This record gives sequence, C-alpha cells and structure tokens, in this order.
Amino acid sequence: MTDFTVTPYDVRGTIDYEKLLEQFGADQLTDEQINRFPSPVHPLLRRRQFYAHRDIDRFCDAIEAKQTHSIVTGRGPSGAMHLGHIIPLYFAKYVQEQTNARVYIPFSDDEKFLVKDRTLETIGEQTRDNLKELLAVGFDPERTRIIIDTHDADVIYPLAVAFGESITQSTFNSTYGEPKNIGHSFYPAVQTAHLLLPQLIHGAHPTLVPIGIDQDPHVRVSRDVASKRRFPVEKPTALLSKFLPRLDGPGKMSASGDAHATITLADDRETIATKIHTHAVTGGQASKAAHRKHGGDPTADVPFQLLQAMFEPDDERLARIEHDYRSGKLLSGELKAIAIDAIAEFLAAHQQRKTQLGPLKTELSQYRLSDTERTTARKRVGHYELKSMN
Ligand code: TYM
Repeated sequence: MTDFTVTPYDVRGTIDYEKLLEQFGADQLTDEQINRFPSPVHPLLRRRQFYAHRDIDRFCDAIEAKQTHSIVTGRGPSGAMHLGHIIPLYFAKYVQEQTNARVYIPFSDDEKFLVKDRTLETIGEQTRDNLKELLAVGFDPERTRIIIDTHDADVIYPLAVAFGESITQSTFNSTYGEPKNIGHSFYPAVQTAHLLLPQLIHGAHPTLVPIGIDQDPHVRVSRDVASKRRFPVEKPTALLSKFLPRLDGPGKMSASGDAHATITLADDRETIATKIHTHAVTGGQASKAAHRKHGGDPTADVPFQLLQAMFEPDDERLARIEHDYRSGKLLSGELKAIAIDAIAEFLAAHQQRKTQLGPLKTELSQYRLSDTERTTARKRVGHYELKSMN
C-alpha cells in the first residue's frame, strides 16, 4: 500500500515519483535519452520536469532519421487553465518548431461532462475559453489538428467503437477504479482514439504523448489496444511529467482546487504577485537573521520549483539563484519577486497572443481535420461509408 493515489480522476497524497513508476511500470529517463532530443533541449526535459517514459527511444529514432512522427497531447475543458496545463502544450510547440512534428490536440469535452458535476452548457463555455488559450500557444496550423470530441464525433466515434471492443470492464476497473457512470466506462476508448488518430491518418509511425503522469493509464490502455495488432498502428510513446505543485503545498496544482493556490493563464501581474506573496510555500528560515545564517532550501520552495520547471530557462541564472538562496544571500521574499516577474512576463506574452486572435470559429477552422483525413482514419479501422451503399 502507498499513501498516495494517482489516476486520471484522482490525485492525492504526497507522491513518491519513483515508487509511482514502479506501480505504473514506466521508466525513468536517462541523460542519454534526454540528449537525443534536438539541441537546445527544452528546460522541461533537461531539468526533468518530464522525468519518465515508455519507449522514448522509438520516438527519438524517428526524429534522428527524419521519419514521420507526431505528438498528441490534450485537454479536458472543465475550468480555467492553469500553469500545469501548459507544460505539455508549450513542450509540444517547441518540438514542433525543432522537428516539424505533426501535433494533434484533442479536447475531451465528453469526458469532463461525464466525470465532473457540470452542465453541457458550462462545459461548452469552458471549451471555448480553453480553445482560445490553446490557440494563444501558437501552433503551426499546417501541421496541427485540434479535435473536439462531441464536434468531431464523425471520426472519433467509429474509432472509439473499434477500439472499445478490446477494452474490458475489468481493465477499466483495475486501471481507473470505479466508473462514475457507463459513459465514463466507455471514455478510455475515446482517449485511445485520440492517441492512435495520427497513425490512422498518416500510416503507422512513432507518436509521442507528453502528459502529466496522471494520464499515463490512458496511454497504457492505448498501447494494449495497439499491441493486439488488429489495427495498422504501433504503440504510442509516453513522456511523463511530475506535477507543478500547488502554491500552498506539495499537492498538484489543480483547476478544481482552491483558486488561491493556482495561477491561471488569465492572471495579471498583480494577481500573480498577491497569490505568490500570500500563499506560496517557501524553503526559507523563520527569521531574516536565521536565513542569512543557515540559508534556504530551494527543493522545498514552490517559487523556486516554478522557476526551475520552465519559467527561468537560463541555466546559469537559475544556478545563481539556487546558490544565493542556499547561501542565505537571497531572501525568500526576493526569490518570490523573481518568480513573480518571470511568470508575469511569460503570461503577458501568452495573453498578448490571445488578444490578437480573431473570432474563435475562424481561428479554429485552420486546425480542423479535413474531409480526407476523416475518411482515411475511419477506413483504417474498417468503417464503411454510407454513400457507397445502394
Ligand atoms: P487535463 O485537462 O486534466 O489536463 C491537461 C494536461 O495537463 C496535465 N496537468 C498537469 N501537469 C503538470 N502539473 C499539473 N499540476 C497538472 N495538472 C494537469 C495533465 O496531466 C494533462 O496532460 N483526459 C485529459 C485530456 C485529454 C488528453 C488526450 C491528454 C484527452 N485526450 C490525449 C493527452 C492526450 C485530461 O483530462 O487532461
């Protein structure tokens, strides 16, 4: 027994990330594997926010050989997006710029309706809001597709039906726990459709799924389905991240948690400053004199962890901050101010891109699946077209 729980629907307790890998059967990333990514390697990877994987070498082989490769990472639109949610998205964008990867981003509005206590109208509002956040990241429309489950049902549903046949209820229960309803039981077939979709459009090829480790059970299910070899796909690669912490503690920054402990993508500098100054846990000493004497502990300091994850990309500057904090030269309040500046600057650029977007429908139209892509994917799972029936 462990004193923590991590599933796509429940993250609790103080997570022992190594133990979690044993539980899930995934592997720690090695330095060699990290350095197989094109240089410069993204801070999220070289600083090991992404720390574990399944079959990463398969994906790196494809990058090195300049073969077709894709990335799938998604969002379940249930509330305002926060800093944790953008980890996979900004990482995917960065790799796309480096390797010209195709990127697929599914929105599981169905999943969030089924598992959260929200009306369809509310889920719709969140979907529109979160789509704008996603568009503000700035993916290449030529190489990126956005899928919304209930709006792309013509392709997602036949795929999910094809895959759902090989996922049993006992697999669901042992992987996710008790389903909330029968719609929830079916949902893993839908996320499997997301993860295998690029291969059904472009033929079998390595696909990277960068996600928080809570989503790993979905990758396991999709790899199981792929390994049955009933469909022309190979097993997707998982790239698993640790969670960005809540400001006030070690738990996962979460949309459904307390708002004060979460920095959302819409927060302005003042809000970020108030949240960090008032709520962020630090690794500082109880008094200024004690801090000067004994120094602080960056590993217990949430503002430092945010800088380390991605908000201070410069390694030398980060090392100086760490050194000065440990030595007592830098006080907790000063470290907080550095984190506030870095996060505010990052979010201001994100928000600026968001304000420049045109109407959602027009923006989104560049990223929808084409008719040919839809037909090709359906055909590859054996789905029939009505127009050929007479
Ligand atoms: P969702 O919307 O809960 O979360 C979106 C992504 O953000 C990650 N995440 C975090 N990462 C780091 N720190 C945090 N505090 C944090 N909180 C959330 C999640 O792990 C996830 O990667 N079922 C999915 C949506 C989805 C999807 C997909 C994801 C549908 N199809 C295909 C990846 C690939 C979900 O509800 O994610």
